[in-house]
Amino acid sequence: MQLIESIPAMKEVSHRLQSAGSLGFVPTMGYLHEGHLSLVDTSVKENPHTVASIFVNPAQFGKNEDLSTYPRDLERDLKHLQARGVDYVFYPQASDIYPEDYGTWVDVDKLGDLHCGKSRPGHFRGVTTIVLKLVNIIMPGFMYMGAKDFQQLVILQKMLQDLNLDTQIVPCPIVREDDGLAMSSRNTYLDKDERKRALCLSQALAHSQQLFKDGVRDSRQLIKAAAEIINKAGGQIDYIECVHPQSLLPVEVAEADTRMLMAVYIGRTRLIDNAPMA
Ligand code: PAJ
Repeated sequence: MQLIESIPAMKEVSHRLQSAGSLGFVPTMGYLHEGHLSLVDTSVKENPHTVASIFVNPAQFGKNEDLSTYPRDLERDLKHLQARGVDYVFYPQASDIYPEDYGTWVDVDKLGDLHCGKSRPGHFRGVTTIVLKLVNIIMPGFMYMGAKDFQQLVILQKMLQDLNLDTQIVPCPIVREDDGLAMSSRNTYLDKDERKRALCLSQALAHSQQLFKDGVRDSRQLIKAAAEIINKAGGQIDYIECVHPQSLLPVEVAEADTRMLMAVYIGRTRLIDNAPMA
């Protein structure tokens, strides 16, 4: 496995790999857990070469968000990536990605302003911009992304389609801890009590799925039942919505592929989770 820090060096390798068959790419912000590594495993299985990137992207963090405290452990990440068969790790400097005179940003209309975009203005503009830059540098045939960040996945699919890029996203399922908590680098912020209470997100989703199975189709009713579970656990709801899986617009009547999306504060930690109704 080779660690590449410079953009020109990464481009040179990408050009060489183009002719060697399909290239898989897993973009990350590091502090890797089994959720990230499941994407790596799938890419390694499906492509002759896999590139993973580690870059804590300042452009997607708001002013009062956790950029400075975001967990980092490069050595541990590299060990994991090597063990899972990654060929190249791209680890660029922020000053190379965003030089002082940097001035180009990518915005996906509508989708970027909903849900997480409402509570984190500018967040998705930062995500789409960095991912487009990474795709241009690495030129992967396939990019592996988790359904954990469902809105991000949909927005990036739209960006790749709108801009006629040749990279295809391969959506991968949410990896959870044994008790149901969706894995996230931010779970390390939770203290012991919060870690227990954080279970309310997956429990609320499971309860809504059960209600759907029992015949409930009214989104308001499903959301209300989910909110009750979260409130009981002392979670602070940012939003809970039942949405169409592509437009991400709220639906009144839930169907099997309707996605329940939620963002909840447990203490000061903002967690997200989601699930289809069936
Ligand atoms: P990060 O939060 O590090 O996540 C990197 C990838 O891992 C994303 O595709 C995310 O959906 C996936 N992932 C995280 N937790 C997961 C879980 N529990 N199960 C399955 N997949 C999971 O998402 C980002 O970084 C950034 O926004 C990025 C796309 C790298 C752009 O900066």
